[in-house]
Amino acid sequence: MSKKPYYEVDGFKLIHGDTFKELKKIEPKSIDMIFADPPYFLSGDGISCSAGKMVSVKKGEWDEKIDINEKHKFNRKWIKLCYNILKDDGTIWISGTMHNIYSIGMALEQEGFKIINNITWRKLNPPPNISCRAFVHSTETILWAKKDLKKAKHKFNYSVMKELNDNKQMKDVWDSSLTKPSEKKYGKHPTQKPIAILEKIILASTDENDLILDPFNGSGTTGIVANKLNRRYIGIEKEIEYLELSIKRKEEK
Ligand SMILES: C[S@@+](CC[C@H](N)C(=O)[O-])C[C@H]1O[C@@H](n2cnc3c(N)ncnc32)[C@H](O)[C@@H]1O
Repeated sequence: MSKKPYYEVDGFKLIHGDTFKELKKIEPKSIDMIFADPPYFLSGDGISCSAGKMVSVKKGEWDEKIDINEKHKFNRKWIKLCYNILKDDGTIWISGTMHNIYSIGMALEQEGFKIINNITWRKLNPPPNISCRAFVHSTETILWAKKDLKKAKHKFNYSVMKELNDNKQMKDVWDSSLTKPSEKKYGKHPTQKPIAILEKIILASTDENDLILDPFNGSGTTGIVANKLNRRYIGIEKEIEYLELSIKRKEEK
């Protein structure tokens, strides 16, 4: 029998553990939508700029650079587990940058997914490039995919998206700022995603009461938005500190 969740209130469930073990305990074909913001494997010797100061790029041990074959094996393994738990009509969204997104795209196809869209999040306020030896990194990619099955009929709330976009068809380039300081008042996660990005994703591909899963919960952004929009949520995270931060965000009055 699976263990008790770390936290469970009002359709918001947090599981503490290694996603490779915990995903195997989720009921097959039970999830409507998965959003994953996996390790980008970009932490190392690099430098960046945060709040006007030079900082080293170190998000956490889980994000340290690794060999390309190891990285691809990692991505294929968790994506395969996600395929098993996703309903046949469900979809998966995965965010990344040049450090991991090419591996993610290939792993998706190798594990039986078909990419629907390649979303570009254009950051309105990216940090400057202090090396001055390359262009400013100002985008992230979010791949949206479905099972590559003839019978798979994925959900796309076309008219909701159109309405959100002044009644014009929404494009695959989304302008949005970095995560706002007001979203970090209960503590910081080094790679916390903006609420605005998750709102679009969840509104586009799910309906009320659908079950959403995030295999790399972090500070729980996916769950916070899911809950606000009356969807059910399961998040998996190996660091207690980040689960505690997610609970504080969830319990905000
Ligand atoms: C890029 S962050 C996700 C941030 C999240 N989207 C947010 O808005 O806060 C990835 C998270 O995955 C967690 N993680 C990495 N490897 C894991 C694993 N094998 N099992 C469970 N969690 C893992 C890390 O601790 C980190 O919090």
